[in-house]
Formats: sequence, structure tokens, C-alpha cells
Amino acid sequence: MANVDETNQTKFPNQYQTWLATSEQADKEDMLAAYPANIILWAGSSFAKEYNSPRGHQFAVADVTHILRTGVSVEEGKKGLSASCWTCKTPDAPRLMNEMGIEGFSGANFTDLGTEIKSVVYCSDCHEDGSAKLALPRPHAQDAMAKIKLPFDKQNTSMQGAQVCGQCHVTYYFQPERSDKVNIPWIFGSTADDIEKYYDTRRFYEWIHPISKTPMLKARHPEFEHWSRSKHAEAGVTCITCHMPPATDDKGNEFTDHKVGNALEHFDNTCKACHSSQQAISKTLAKKKQQINTKARQVEDLLVKAHFEAKAAWDAGATWPLMNDAIMGIRHGQWRWDFAMASHGLYAHNPEEGNALLDKAIEQVTLSRTLLAMILKQLDVEKVDYPDISTKEKAHAVIGFDKDAAEAAKVMFIKDEVDKHWHPVARQGYEN
Ligand code: HEC
Ligand code: HEC
Ligand code: HEC
Ligand code: HEC
Repeated sequence: MANVDETNQTKFPNQYQTWLATSEQADKEDMLAAYPANIILWAGSSFAKEYNSPRGHQFAVADVTHILRTGVSVEEGKKGLSASCWTCKTPDAPRLMNEMGIEGFSGANFTDLGTEIKSVVYCSDCHEDGSAKLALPRPHAQDAMAKIKLPFDKQNTSMQGAQVCGQCHVTYYFQPERSDKVNIPWIFGSTADDIEKYYDTRRFYEWIHPISKTPMLKARHPEFEHWSRSKHAEAGVTCITCHMPPATDDKGNEFTDHKVGNALEHFDNTCKACHSSQQAISKTLAKKKQQINTKARQVEDLLVKAHFEAKAAWDAGATWPLMNDAIMGIRHGQWRWDFAMASHGLYAHNPEEGNALLDKAIEQVTLSRTLLAMILKQLDVEKVDYPDISTKEKAHAVIGFDKDAAEAAKVMFIKDEVDKHWHPVARQGYEN
């Protein structure tokens, strides 16, 4: 096997065994079934097909292989997905970047490199090979940390620990003019405003929304960004403090728990040092979670309406000069909603920023809808159709996604390609 070498297992058994134990975190939630409105907001993008909550690191390769968004045979004459989708799943990604060049790797097809992928998130993703020294093997992360003036090799171990997580738990996009290589858009900084400014000045969009014709942006798990501006970061509390606390083995040896998972399970040896009452913290967290969720549902509802109102305006003959401001309101409002909600654990990491993002999104989308109402009036449109999207199935029907056909194609792909030719890590959790 390429990267999973025996030495780490025998040399560092505690770290190895706890790393292995993330396979116990097997639960995931179907986010589109829970929030069908997301299917409308992401219509035209692959996120509308399937989207699940994250689970243990041991599933990283199998989950990206089995999800409907990625991993199907490439259609005749089409380009297929970039191999960049492997970047945050496996140490084989930085290895292949070294071998093929960064753009050689990103320009390759996702499925064509499937047979090269032999490990999930592993020691060498965070450490210099065979040692405890922390490392940042992904070039996009090295560049990004330098952009925000926190170059990896100049940081203390505590910040380096957060940065190793930040290689993957960070927002990014594929740079079209650089063979779809992964780029972290932090030229102006790492807030939603800074990143939006970068995308807007470059007139960048990920896809055109098929309902409202909005040039859309997509945020992806900006946990590092939110944490970096939190009270915890200020107090020197990092991802490692909460997600990889100290542990002791049978013989009394201390080590770092590598079963990266639920922070609250470690209350006694992490949070307790600063917060005496678990009950009080749980209550505060539950309150913050509810507050953010309520606002998020409110934004989703407004955005769904705005997308359909824009469609009604286009259908009635609206033109770009008339629509521009309303469409930009949808783009910017949905960006802020996404920058909040794509960040897992936001209510615990930085609820203040989460609330501010959602408040601003409400403001932007409300203004957009006011403009749309004026346009619709001007065009004599009296009624807008808001289809029933109360379940995942209904929302999929509205956007015309044939889930059965996509699933059948996936089964074929797994049977013909993955089962026959790929490493068993690509089937972790999906074994028959
Ligand atoms: C997701 C990142 C990540 C992965 C994967 C990872 N480590 Fe670590 N490891 C860390 C961090 C962070 C620390 C703590 C560094 C510190 O604070 O000093 C650490 C600490 C260590 C240490 C120092 C002793 C200790 O326990 O604190 C050893 C040895 C070690 N890891 C070995 C391994 C081995 C072996 C693997 C693979 C089985 C592995 N690590 C996988 C991030 C990782
Ligand atoms: C090489 C990329 C990579 C690195 C480095 C990485 N992660 Fe992850 N992490 C992932 C992926 C991918 C998933 C989702 C896996 C899935 O759902 O199949 C994930 C999932 C998680 C989860 C969810 C676990 C669960 O059981 O719900 C937590 C928490 C997490 N990571 C924290 C961290 C922390 C803390 C660090 C740094 C010590 C870190 N990760 C480093 C890629 C990475
Ligand atoms: C103050 C402690 C703390 C710090 C610091 C922290 N986290 Fe978390 N994290 C949490 C808590 C608490 C949750 C919510 C757990 C839950 O909902 O069950 C969470 C949730 C998560 C999740 C989602 C897990 C899931 O299954 O939905 C990920 C991923 C994650 N954190 C990664 C990180 C990364 C990466 C960093 C650093 C950039 C970080 N965390 C910093 C406490 C912390
Ligand atoms: C090294 C100290 C330290 C550790 C460890 C720590 N925190 Fe904190 N926590 C703080 C500080 C400092 C604040 C900010 C207090 C303030 O400004 O009011 C804070 C604030 C919070 C808040 C917001 C409280 C409120 O009333 O608004 C929550 C929730 C929280 N922490 C949860 C956790 C959890 C969960 C863990 C463990 C997974 C944890 N913290 C670990 C220092 C810590």
C-alpha cells in the first residue's frame, strides 16, 4: 500500500489505533431530506443531487466515491470532474501533485485517478513522514496561510495544529483558468465580504441558476475561517484543544487522541478547564444552535421565493438592466447563507459571525424581493407560481432531477469500476 505503512502502526500504536477508530463515527444525515429548500437553492449544481453531513475521517474516500455528485462514468464527449475532488480526502492527492505537477493532477479526470487512491486522511496529511512534526503537504494551503500572513513554518505548534485541519476544513474553489486547481480565495482576506469582493471583481461564478439565471457562488465548509475570528481562537483554544484532546493509555503514557470527532464527548478533559458546568454550556450551545437554525430556515424560504419571482419576471420579458440589482441581491444573500450553513458546527465555533451573516442575508434577499415585486408589477405579472417543495422527492421533481436514473448509473459505476479496480478504502462502510 502506498502511504499506509506498517512503521506508523508499530511506532505510534496509540495514535494509530485512535486514528483507526474514527470508523466508529458512521452516522450521517441526509441534508437534502432534512432541508428540501436547499435543492432549489442549489438547482443546476451537483449539490442539489445529494448532500450529507460529515462523518469520521475513515469514510472520506468511500463517501466521495459513492455520492451522486461525483464518481460516475464520464459521458462521451464530456470532460468529467476534476481530480481536484480528491484533494481533501487522501494523502495520495499531495503525492500525485508531486508526481504529476499541480495542474497535471487537477487537469486529470476524477475517476481516472481512482485506482491511485489508497488511503483516507492519514498521518502524512498532518505530519512529516514517520515523525510527530506537523506538516502542511497541500500547496493551496501553504499559499493561503501566507496570504493571511500566517505562514505555516513561522507558527507555533498550536496554530500549526489548527492549520493542518485548515488544509481541508476551509472554503475553496476550482480555478478554471488553471486547469481547475484548488484555490483558497483569500487575496483580500478570509471573511465572507473579502471573498465576495474577490469573486465579484473577477466576475466569477460557479454556475448559472436555471430558475432565476443568477450567477451563483458556492461556499464550502469554512470551519477554519469562522474559528479564526472566534473568542476561542483569541484565547488560544484551537481545533486540537476541542477535537483531539490529551488521552492516557493503560500504561499511563500520555498521547493526543487521534479519534477526531465530537468535541462534547471530551468535555471533562477539554472544556472543563475553562467552563466548570457542562449543563450550562450545553444549554448555551442548544440556544445558539436553535437561533441559527431558525434564521437559516427564514433565509432559505426568502431565497426560494426570490428565485421563482425572478423566473416569473424573466418569463414575462424582463431584461438584464432591469433585473441586475435584484439578481445581485440573490447572489450575495445566498453566498452569505451558504458561508454560514456550509460551516459545520458554526453555532459552537462562532455563533456571532453566523448570526451576522444570516441577518445580512435576510436584508439582502428582502431588498431583492422588493425590487422583484416592482419589476413584476411593471410587467403586469399578478401571480407567481411557488411549487410544492415540501419533501426531497417533490423538490427533485421541480428541478427535473431523475434520481432513479442517477442511482442506477452509480450502481453500474461501482460494480464495473470501483469493486473491480479500486482500493478497498473506496468501499469503507459500503461493503455488501
Ligand atoms: C488530521 C491531522 C492528523 C493526522 C491525520 C494525524 N495526526 Fe498525529 N498529531 C496531529 C496533531 C495536531 C498533533 C498534536 C501536535 C501538538 O499539539 O503538539 C499530533 C500529535 C502526534 C504525535 C505526538 C505525540 C502525541 O500523541 O501528541 C505523534 C507521534 C503522532 N501525532 C503520530 C501520528 C500518526 C502515527 C498518525 C497516523 C496514524 C497521525 N499522527 C495522524 C495531527 C494529526
Ligand atoms: C486531508 C483533509 C482533512 C484534514 C487534514 C482534516 N479533515 Fe476533518 N474531515 C475531512 C473530510 C473529507 C471529512 C468528512 C468525511 C466523510 O464524511 O466521509 C472530515 C470530517 C471531520 C469531522 C466530522 C467527524 C464526525 O464524526 O462527524 C470533524 C469533527 C473533523 N473532520 C475535524 C477535523 C480536525 C479537527 C482536523 C485537524 C486535526 C481535521 N478534521 C483534518 C477532511 C480532513
Ligand atoms: C471550543 C471548542 C472547539 C473548537 C476550538 C473547534 N471546534 Fe469544531 N466543534 C466543536 C463543537 C462543540 C462542535 C459541535 C458538535 C456537535 O454538534 O455535536 C463542533 C463541530 C465541528 C464539526 C462538525 C462535526 C459534525 O459531525 O457535524 C467540524 C467538521 C469541526 N467542528 C471542525 C473544527 C475545526 C476544523 C476547527 C478548527 C479550525 C474546530 N472545529 C474548532 C468544538 C470546537
Ligand atoms: C482555554 C480555555 C477554554 C477552553 C478549553 C474552552 N473554552 Fe469555551 N470559552 C473560552 C473563552 C475565553 C470564551 C469567551 C468568554 C466570553 O467572552 O464571554 C469561551 C466561550 C464559550 C462559549 C460561549 C459562552 C457564552 O455564554 O456565550 C461556549 C458555548 C463555549 N465556550 C464552549 C466551549 C466548549 C464546548 C469547549 C470544549 C469543547 C470549550 N468551550 C473549551 C475559553 C475556553
